[in-house]
Amino acid sequence: MNLILLGPPGAGKGTQAKRLEAAHGIAQISTGDMLRAEVASGSPIGQQAKAIMEAGQLVPDALITEMLAKRIEAPDCAKGFILDGFPRTLAQAEALDAMLAAKGKSLDKVIELKVDDAALVARIAGRFACAKCGAGYHDTFKRPKVEGVCDVCGATEFTRRADDRAETVSARLEAYHKQTAPLLPYYAARGKLATVDGMAEMDEVTRQIEAVLAA
Ligand code: AP5
Repeated sequence: MNLILLGPPGAGKGTQAKRLEAAHGIAQISTGDMLRAEVASGSPIGQQAKAIMEAGQLVPDALITEMLAKRIEAPDCAKGFILDGFPRTLAQAEALDAMLAAKGKSLDKVIELKVDDAALVARIAGRFACAKCGAGYHDTFKRPKVEGVCDVCGATEFTRRADDRAETVSARLEAYHKQTAPLLPYYAARGKLATVDGMAEMDEVTRQIEAVLAA
């Protein structure tokens, strides 16, 4: 099963992709996580991407498409994958179509998480993650069960993303509306698009996604 989760920053793509990965045994591919790993390692790709990401802009199509093409060759993608944060431009969507066609594969569904811009700012501003295992939390919507201790690995250090400052969030939202939202009619025209209510509680969003996959 090959899926795309499409939605603005903070819509819940990462949250739901991890749940789908666990439930269906298919690989979550977050291009944002891949880029943050490149930035952390100080690689040439990371050096190129750092300032662009911190400004809330999109990194060049050629760079991200090459990364993605290599990633979907990995053995953990044999059963399928959930793309979280890719494609983000029409050029990336067309490149993905060509990559999949060359392998005799295709997309099963593109699931849009629909969320109001006002809610996104609150979600992103409250987000933090375990510094050791990366488990995601939120100041209001998902606090650790024991204050200051990661539910998953027990670590006590947490981090916040460099691009989650309020001024960067508005640039990220603008990039979404200008460059990524045109993908909605692109996939609708191909009969692939389903929309779920990303404003609902996390478990309800998961239920709606599973209903789309079962249909
Ligand atoms: P990326 O890492 O992909 O960030 P994003 O798309 O901005 O998405 P986020 O990770 O911010 O949000 P999300 O939708 O995953 O939400 P989450 O589940 O965390 O990209 C970062 C940057 O990398 C880009 O700006 C760009 O520079 C670059 N980049 C990446 N891919 C690229 C590409 N293809 N091309 C070019 N550049 C690229 O949820 C958010 C918060 O809300 C969490 O705290 C969560 O707990 C909470 N939450 C989730 N669901 C709910 C709910 N239903 N109710 C209440 N709270 C919820």
